[in-house]
This record gives sequence, structure tokens and C-alpha cells, in this order.
Amino acid sequence: MRVAQLVSETDFDGWRLAARDLRLAGIRPEDATFRVAGAEGQGGLFDTPTEDRSPVRDERKEEGFSVPKAFVDVAREVILHRSADRFDLLYRILWRLRDEPDLMKVVSDRDIVDALDRVRNVSRASHKMKAFVRFRFVEDENGETAVAWFEPAHRVLEKTAPFFVNRFTTMRWSILTPDGSAFWDGASLAFGPPASAADAPDEDAVEEFWKTYYASTFNPARLKTKTMQGEMPKRYWKNLPEAALIPELVAASAVRTETMVAAPHPAPNARLLREIARHTRDGSFEEGFSPSSLDDLRHGVQACRRCDLYRDATQGVCGEGPKTASLMIVGEQPGDQEDLAGRPFVGPAGQVLDAALAEAGIDREDVFVTNAVKHFKHEPQGKRRLHKTPNTSEISACRWWLDHERRLVRPKVILALGATASLAVLNRKVAVTRERGQPIALADGATAMITVHPSYLLRLPDEAARISERAAFVRDLQKVRALL
Ligand code: URA
Repeated sequence: MRVAQLVSETDFDGWRLAARDLRLAGIRPEDATFRVAGAEGQGGLFDTPTEDRSPVRDERKEEGFSVPKAFVDVAREVILHRSADRFDLLYRILWRLRDEPDLMKVVSDRDIVDALDRVRNVSRASHKMKAFVRFRFVEDENGETAVAWFEPAHRVLEKTAPFFVNRFTTMRWSILTPDGSAFWDGASLAFGPPASAADAPDEDAVEEFWKTYYASTFNPARLKTKTMQGEMPKRYWKNLPEAALIPELVAASAVRTETMVAAPHPAPNARLLREIARHTRDGSFEEGFSPSSLDDLRHGVQACRRCDLYRDATQGVCGEGPKTASLMIVGEQPGDQEDLAGRPFVGPAGQVLDAALAEAGIDREDVFVTNAVKHFKHEPQGKRRLHKTPNTSEISACRWWLDHERRLVRPKVILALGATASLAVLNRKVAVTRERGQPIALADGATAMITVHPSYLLRLPDEAARISERAAFVRDLQKVRALL
């Protein structure tokens, strides 16, 4: 049996080199195995190998054999799975790839099914980590820092840490896990040794605020206990301050559905308030807080009280897309699905928009997509939440955020979808059907164009009208493309 030694449980490069050497030396999968240095005693990420990581490594020159990119992508993820036999599974697939170059496409093959299953588990673990890490605030010699303890189902710390860098760029934070720790000091990301729950603080003042916030954003009309437990498995509950409230909230949900509209508005998350306070001279938003990045802006919106729409919305939904996008598309306000997902245009209107953009040759990935109003305005009807058009004072209150998005992204062209977006972008009432498809010069040097809102296309009762209106919509998008 040939034993290849790896530096750590997530040593992808080490596995790749060792596996290539074993393959070139003709060592069959059943005669090869991989060990992590220090395993048994459970060496972690930071152990050093005590011997050469690959006993078959030599100075042989590389006789190439290449593997499909799909295999490399799958292998990178599978390595993060906690199963002990993951290295062997990958080596078996690697071995087979020489004679079966299309193996990765055979989704009924046992090894491929197994590998893809592990990729899914890893991806789910990373997703759960994004959703369920809860920071607690402590003081250290440099001031306030945030610390979280988390036990991921798979070894996804390094894979997932960049998400927290993007999300909490302006904060100093540490995430401690049994596999290793991640540290962000506001400028660079570093990894350190495994930690234990005792290393993380277990209470702080934010917790009570957070619980209040969660209790008031918990929407009993949409309660699906099974889905909720699937999404928020019990293994993560112990780290979530708000989880303590769940049994109580579930029990009270029938009563709360009745009184939901009259329920008190959410107390803001204390962390966000503190963040805003850092930017604010006298506690008033408009005065001192000028978001310095889109991330900053996203945080700020969660604490916005410029109008009352935050009261019944799940969260504020900001724009998303490249911060250097030359095209900004402005919609009206998030809908039901956007409100839940926290992302613009992901529901039915988003699908119409995506398809029309694709037809006009515009890649949504290149576009900054946002809304005139950042909170979902609606009224309950049974268990449904029916869209309500925002009024002029809500549009004008929220224009403050849109203007900051425009300042930060500096798009060359702004496409306004429908009357609300046109009012927010042009600061005047617009007759959409009369003015659509015309370039309009804006004071900041950008060019605006207006067109109908995609939900208008969805509402048209008549098939022929739908077809011709959709074609007109795509033509407007093509004109936008020409402007770009
Ligand atoms: N409609 C909008 O105007 N914006 C969204 O994000 C979704 C639907």
C-alpha cells in the first residue's frame, strides 16, 4: 500500500500533487491511500508534515495527463467534506478519467453520484455558515471586535470566510471553529488554529436587541415549521440567540397572525445602529452618515427610519451588481420574494427582466440592479402580502439611498422601469408611455432612459398584447445597449 501524506485536512494542492505522482507511477486506487499529518490525534489545519508528503514523489519530469476542469472543481469541494474516504474517492475518479475521459458527465455513475452528493453537502454547509454565524462583541486593546463560535458541518471555514469579509468589511472580527479560526482586521484575512467554544464570549448586550429584532421580524403568516427547521437545523440553534425564542414564537403564531399588522415595529439590530452611529455626528442619518461603500449602504438601509415602510418589511433590499457597472437598472420596490431573499428582482418580474435582458444582449451580471424604494410595501390578504404602490413621500424619502447608490456606482446609463422609478431618477412625474425609449440627459452627466416595468407585462390579460409589449420592452433594452 502506498501512503501519501497531506499537510492538512483541506490540503487540496498536496492531494493534487500526490495523486498525480501516484497516477503517473501506475499505483492502482486499491493500492493507494492518503493520510493527513497528525491525523489519529486529529491534527488540524496548521500541523506540519513529519515526513515527505508524498512517498512516491521524485524528480521525474512531468509527463502530462490532463483532467477536465469539472473534476478539479468537484475535487476542491469534495476535499472539504468530513468523510474519511474522500481522498480515496477522488483518486479513484482520477484513475478512471484516463480511460473514461467523459466520466464527469456520467451523472448515473456511482462514484460521480457520490462525489456530487458530497459537493452538495459542502455547499449546504457553507450556506448554513453564512446564515447562522452570530457575532458577539467584545473589547480588546484595539477597541471593539466581533467574535463568533461556529461548528460547520464540513470544513468550509476557508471557503466561506471571504463572504464575511465582503459582508463585514468595516468591522474587525474572528470566527472560531473546531477546524481553525479566521481573523479579519479590516485589511487582511488570516487563518489560525482550531478553537473551542470556550474561546468565544457567550453573551453580550447585543443579544437582547437581536432577540427583539428577530421576534418582531418573525412573520407568523408565513410560518412553515418544517421548512424552518430544514433551513435552520437544530445543530445550529445553540449559537443563535434568537433560537431561544423559536418555541415561544411558534406557539404564539396563530395569535400573532391576527394582530400582525398592529404589531410593534422591529427594534433595529444593535450592531447596525452602532455602525451608523460611528458615521453620525448627532444620531441623525442625513446629517452625518454618508455611506462610503455599497456594503456600508447595505448596512445603513437596515436601520433606516426615513419612512414607515421598514415596519412591515422583512428587511431593506439594496441594489446589487458590480460597483463599476456602466448600466444601473432601477425598479419600483422589492416584491414578496425579494423581501424574503434580500435581493432585488429575484421573483417573477425579475425573471421577465432577466429573459428580456438576455434577448437584448445585456448580461445581468454586468448590471447594477436596484429599486427606487428599498422596503416592500404591502398589505396582508389572508396569508398573502399584496403589493402596494409606494406614495410620493416614501419615494422621495428613499431617493436619498438611490442617490448614494448612484454616487457610488457612477453608471453611464440609468434605465428606470415604470413610473415610480422614473420619478425617483428624474425627480419629476413622467408619462412612461410617452417618454419611453428616449435618452434623457441627467445633471451628473449620466443618461437616463425610461421604459415600462416588467410586472406590467405580466399583468397584461391578452396574449397578443403581451407579445407586442414584450417586444417593445426588448427594443428599449436594445436602445440602452446602444447607449452603452
Ligand atoms: N419589482 C421591482 O420593482 N423590484 C424588484 O426588486 C422586484 C419586483
